[in-house]
Amino acid sequence: MSQKINRLVVIGLGLIGSSLAKAARDRGLCNEVIGSSRSPETLVKAISNGVVDRVVDQIEDVANELGEGDVVVIGVPTLTVPTIVRQLQPLLADTVTITDVASVKGSVVDTVAEVYGQIPRQFVPGHPIAGSEKSGVDAVNSTLFDDHRVILTPLPETGADHLHRVKSLWQGVGAVVTDMSVADHDEILAATSHLPHLLAYALVDTLSNMRENQEIFRYAAGGFRDFTRIAASDPLMWHDIIVANDKAVLSVLNQLTDHIESLKQAIVASDSEKLLGVFTRASEARNHFTKMLENKAYLEPMTQTIDYRVTPGGKVSGEIRIPGDKSISHRSIMLGSLAKGVTEVTGFLEGEDSLATLQAFRDMGVVIEGPVDGRVVIHGVGINGLKAPAGPLYLGNSGTSMRLLSGLLAAQSFDVELTGDESLSKRPMERVAAPLRQMGAVIETEEGGRPPLRIKGGQQLRGIDYVLPMASAQVKSCVLLAGLYADDKTSTTEPAPTRDHTERMLSGFGYQVNRQGAVADLTGGGELVATNIDVPADISSATFYMVAAAIAPGSDITLLHVGINPTRIGVINILQMMGADIQLLNQAEVGGEPVADIRIRYAPLHGINIPEDQVPLAIDEFPALFVAAACAEGQTVLTGAEELRVKESDRIQAMADGLQTLGVDVKPTPDGIVIQGGAIQGEDIQGNIFGGGTVDSEDDHRIAMSFAVAGLRAKDSIVIKNCNNVATSFPGFVALANQAGLKIVEEKR
Ligand code: S3P
Repeated sequence: MSQKINRLVVIGLGLIGSSLAKAARDRGLCNEVIGSSRSPETLVKAISNGVVDRVVDQIEDVANELGEGDVVVIGVPTLTVPTIVRQLQPLLADTVTITDVASVKGSVVDTVAEVYGQIPRQFVPGHPIAGSEKSGVDAVNSTLFDDHRVILTPLPETGADHLHRVKSLWQGVGAVVTDMSVADHDEILAATSHLPHLLAYALVDTLSNMRENQEIFRYAAGGFRDFTRIAASDPLMWHDIIVANDKAVLSVLNQLTDHIESLKQAIVASDSEKLLGVFTRASEARNHFTKMLENKAYLEPMTQTIDYRVTPGGKVSGEIRIPGDKSISHRSIMLGSLAKGVTEVTGFLEGEDSLATLQAFRDMGVVIEGPVDGRVVIHGVGINGLKAPAGPLYLGNSGTSMRLLSGLLAAQSFDVELTGDESLSKRPMERVAAPLRQMGAVIETEEGGRPPLRIKGGQQLRGIDYVLPMASAQVKSCVLLAGLYADDKTSTTEPAPTRDHTERMLSGFGYQVNRQGAVADLTGGGELVATNIDVPADISSATFYMVAAAIAPGSDITLLHVGINPTRIGVINILQMMGADIQLLNQAEVGGEPVADIRIRYAPLHGINIPEDQVPLAIDEFPALFVAAACAEGQTVLTGAEELRVKESDRIQAMADGLQTLGVDVKPTPDGIVIQGGAIQGEDIQGNIFGGGTVDSEDDHRIAMSFAVAGLRAKDSIVIKNCNNVATSFPGFVALANQAGLKIVEEKR
């Protein structure tokens, strides 16, 4: 990747300049590293610390010798850059690559354009985001740039060869390089770096004028220390940065002072709702900042990829509590936010999907406390109380968030854009956009009806009678939620029963929903009244443990307080048809949803033709059911399940590929699959079903967990690639699975 540079000349041996020089020298990226500084003392240290091969007092001493393949790095404080550029201009050949490390790019680019009369193609503006409150050559650190971001702001005039050379240099010292426009760079850095430094200096200065310095530091708690760490940074450097980026800094400073003024007023008025709102939103934003930045700024989270390695064999046993139901968790946030009053949710799923919904409502001004141990308190704003979010609502991997929100947001007064991760960005949204447009909504999608969805505000919706073309609870819910805002009555007719949590929960919030057979209707213009919600354990997550017990001889496991809504129990019905031993204990009803403890013990399974009426009732459970089918005696046939092809992955293909890798005879069909169950040749039916091998979850949580369960009946280890998304629906899956008796190790790469 890195291309050898002939000579690297670093002008200015501060922390950044000297660290770059030493990193490049230590890693052998250049034939010679030359340093220059105004300070003779620095030059002596640079030699004795092994920062450079050679030093020069005057840049003239070396500039004339340089040519193609040589790189000059201007590493001086921002306001000194013009002096150096003026000095260099008559000396350097136009083949020498020039770059800089200043924290402000606009002022540097203006200087270069002025001195050269235009931007020379040899100039590559750059900025490593690797500061520290330490400064100078004494702080030199050759690993300073490892995994840190370097932003380059190449201009149209910048030559590709020069850009490539500078990129290689930074990559060679371990940095991750991003390109950005000069204006974006200066605005983003004003907000995320320059303003915080200004504030830290201001706070320390204010407090030190109030009391004796010493006293402050003696009593200072962690907060003061954390907040003001950066006030120990190089004052000249930060002076230069703030002066050089004055406009962008002033703009964000104005926003902040307005915000502080409104907090001041909230304190005067004892407006604790306002204070709590700001604090909860900010604390959540801070907790999720990597994800939010992924959407908005320069820092891509450097998360590692997680693979699972499953040791073969074992059985499951014990009593376990599975995390909360994902569908119900989403809906609790949505309806709680739109209700009048305070809704308390317990058992909330703290998975990434439901947290995406929670964050979206915070972004629309709803005060939401928690989650803490599954408890969330939502301060509802009323059906018309949402506020325009500052930017697009980022919904991660969550199809449910996007489809249900599109209904709720179709009739708001503001415009909104819904975006998601790579997988969500490929999923079909026309199925919700089409009925919403019939209701009068104005929605744009990307080509092929894919996200992002751009919804225009200020539309009055009209009720429709919508006959769903596919059995989809998300589409049904979307239309009903839009119906809350429509004139007159909205009805949905579904081709087969799908999960009815929206209808049940609307009733729980006091909104009348009429239901007759396949038809549900409601009339717009009503109100939701806050209520408390106890979210049962998610039967879709429980499925992995049910299948585990059903396939592993000797298993006996009880799953506590699981939702057994009749529209969700296809997995129980199908497993029972296959011969599984399942008991429902302690049946009860909580908040309008039936629950039970599910006990399941190993019993031999046999293959079946899965009745098509069970498909929507087990729609999320098929990946795991395919594993059960592979362990059953005889053939299992699934038809009428083409919807599986448009889930988080094409679940028919992803499972067929993985099962085939593990030696199972499967045939995918357009709307299902045929699986020949049974043991590996030569072994009895209780023996091994799966060979070992490496399978890919295709970033789909349910595929990952299904193959983990297959390990119970495997001959050798199974490695499952790309399991990060298990966190979308089942945080803590590996720990709970291992507690029950599986043997899964997470491997990070
Ligand atoms: C869900 C509905 C189902 C399901 C999804 C959650 C819901 O999707 O697959 O995981 O909460 O309404 P479809 O409506 O697309 O079938």
